[in-house]
Amino acid sequence: MTILYLLCIIASQLTVVFSSAGNVWTYKDSLGPDHWHLDYPHCGGIRQSPIDLQTRDVVVDQAYLSPIIFSGYDRAPKLFYTLENNGHTVQCGLNDKTMEISGGGLRDTYVAEQFHFHWGATDERGSEHSLNGKHFPMEMHIVHYNKRYENFSISVDKSDGLAVLGFFFEIGRFNKHVQEIIDHFVEIQYKNENITINSIPLNDLMPARLTNYFRYIGSLTTPPCYESVTWTIFNETIEIAEEQLVQFRTTIFENDKSDGGLPMDITDDYRPVQCMFRRRLYASHPSLKYNMEAGKTINSGASYVLSRLVFTYFVCVWSFVT
Ligand SMILES: *[C@@H]1O[C@H](CO)[C@@H](O)[C@H](O)[C@H]1NC(C)=O
Ligand SMILES: *[C@@H]1O[C@H](CO)[C@@H](O)[C@H](O)[C@H]1NC(C)=O
Ligand SMILES: *[C@@H]1O[C@H](CO)[C@@H](O)[C@H](O)[C@H]1NC(C)=O
Ligand SMILES: [Zn+2]
Repeated sequence: MTILYLLCIIASQLTVVFSSAGNVWTYKDSLGPDHWHLDYPHCGGIRQSPIDLQTRDVVVDQAYLSPIIFSGYDRAPKLFYTLENNGHTVQCGLNDKTMEISGGGLRDTYVAEQFHFHWGATDERGSEHSLNGKHFPMEMHIVHYNKRYENFSISVDKSDGLAVLGFFFEIGRFNKHVQEIIDHFVEIQYKNENITINSIPLNDLMPARLTNYFRYIGSLTTPPCYESVTWTIFNETIEIAEEQLVQFRTTIFENDKSDGGLPMDITDDYRPVQCMFRRRLYASHPSLKYNMEAGKTINSGASYVLSRLVFTYFVCVWSFVT
């Protein structure tokens, strides 16, 4: 115990040395998710995101989790969108603040600010949230801020500041709406490049059935990890063709053009799932509460999924008792 304790102290000191060279962060190595909390203390909190959505543990509350009311999602806003490579993801800024959500258990009205994606190097990973341990190849987040605050920057660290809608992607048919975004990737290959693109209705990007969803209270999944997010993760997935995912994996780089050197693809830009601690996971429909049928849900990636779950479980128990 004492030796383990000493090793932990030494290890934490080492990571301090490596990570204190400025407030940069990445998804791997010495500036990766396991070290974010050193520069960004909120990342070590007990209401962090993403999480594994465990369907057998959900609390179904149909009256509270009524359908979300989407306003303005069915039309293309007047102002252009701003598509940007920020070195961590592809992000689309919604300049016209005309799209809003309310209802669905949200106490206030939330204004759409931007959407972005998290994707993996292979089809077995990429999503931030997982469903009974299963990851999807990509996840889209539409980030909204509470209308009672002036703007996104003011809302970002308030406990009721943000509402994020999360959508899983599955390999399937060619997605012509996402392609309108992918078509511009060559213009924003390098970090900090941005362009304006024609706006598209957000409805076009979302699945058709939006009444079945999961809800929990969590955080930003990137530093500074503020615990300000009411999360909604939809059960219905979005289809995308394999060759379109390949565009995400190979055209967007994490380095600056002026850096010179070899371009580095952005892939696996997802944070590992975090401990649930005392939080509850809610669901809007009774059929979202089901027991994972062993052998049916678990596929070829079973051993990976299982080892990841066991790992997460022990890390959670460990961090809880220490
Ligand atoms: C947000 O509102 C605050 C307060 O009015 C202002 O100081 C700040 O510049 C605004 N930020 C942005 C990004 O508009
Ligand atoms: C887009 O890039 C230009 C420089 O190329 C920069 O001045 C501008 O602030 C950027 N806009 C956004 C929204 O990032
Ligand atoms: C949730 O999604 C799964 C997989 O797409 C589907 O089989 C199931 O019917 C959905 N359940 C609800 C309640 O929407
Ligand atoms: Zn995100």
